[in-house]
Amino acid sequence: MVTLAAAPDLIAEGSSLRVREVSKSFAPADGNVAERGEETRALERVTLSVAAGELVSLVGPSGCGKSTLLRLIAGLDAPGAGELWVGPEPITAPSAERGLVFQDPNLFPWLTVRRNIEAGLVARGVLREKRNEVDEFMRLVGLEKFAGAFPHHLSGGMAQRVALARALINHPKVLLLDEPLGALDAFTRMKMQDEVLRLWRARRTTMLLVTHDIDEAIYMSDRIVILTPSPGRIERIIAVDLERPRQRSSPEFLRLRGDILELLHFAGSTAAA
Ligand SMILES: Nc1ncnc2c1ncn2[C@@H]1O[C@H](COP(=O)(O)OP(=O)(O)O)[C@@H](O)[C@H]1O
Ligand SMILES: [Mg+2]
Repeated sequence: MVTLAAAPDLIAEGSSLRVREVSKSFAPADGNVAERGEETRALERVTLSVAAGELVSLVGPSGCGKSTLLRLIAGLDAPGAGELWVGPEPITAPSAERGLVFQDPNLFPWLTVRRNIEAGLVARGVLREKRNEVDEFMRLVGLEKFAGAFPHHLSGGMAQRVALARALINHPKVLLLDEPLGALDAFTRMKMQDEVLRLWRARRTTMLLVTHDIDEAIYMSDRIVILTPSPGRIERIIAVDLERPRQRSSPEFLRLRGDILELLHFAGSTAAA
C-alpha cells in the first residue's frame, strides 16, 4: 500500500473542467441535409462545470451524446458552438493531460503489460526520464506481478487495469472514462468500481465517467448528470450526498436509484412522444 505522504510525486491534482453552451450536430451519412432531412443534434447547449478532483458521471440512453461530449473534451472533435476549458486553458486539440479509457481496453496484443503501459511514454519521447514511474503505476493498479504477461493472458478486469495505468501514467488533469467497466461481469465490475475509486483518491484526478449502470453512477459519483437524447441535453444534475464507502442496499441509495430511474423513464417517454 502506497502512502501518499511518503510518495509526494504520486499526488497529482486534477483540474477543473468547464463546458459552456456546447452544441454539436452531425450531418446525415451522405452529407446531404437537403435531401436526407435533419442533422443529428448530438448535443444542444450543454453547460457543465466540474470541480478539480470531482468525480462526475454521465448517464443517459444510447445516442444522447455522452461519447460525443467526451470526444469534445478530449479534443478529438470540435464543437459546432460553445466553449470548453480545462482549468484556464481552452481545449483546442488532444492532450495527454486528458486521458481517455474506453470499454475496449485497446491494448497492443504483441506487447507485454509493461510495454503497453510504456507505449504512451514512448510516443511522447519521455520514456527515459519516466521509466521508473512505470513500476509505480503497475503497483498502483496491482499488476506488478504481470509486467511480462501478454494481453491474451489477462482477464477483462486486469486488461482494464492496464488501460487505466496507461492513461494515469501521463498524469492526466482530467480522466475521461467511456463505459470503462461495461464489458465486465457484475462481480468484477463491482471490484473495479472500488479500484477506480481508490485510484481517484490516490491521484486526485478529475474524473468524468460515462455509464449505463445507475447503481455504478450512485456508488461512485459526487454528482450525476442525466442526459436525454434528440437533441442531447442535460436533463438534471443530481448531487450524491452519501458517505463513502456507499452501501448499495441502503434506503438512501435505493431511493436515489428510484428517482433516477423515474427521471430516465419519464425523459425517455417524452422523447419518444
Ligand atoms: N461521427 C458521427 N457522425 C454522425 N453521427 C454521429 C457521429 N457520432 C455520433 N453521432 C450521432 O450523435 C448521437 C450521439 O451519439 P453518441 O455521442 O455516440 O451517444 P452515446 O455515447 O450517448 O450513446 C447519435 O445519434 C449518434 O448516431
Ligand atoms: Mg457512447
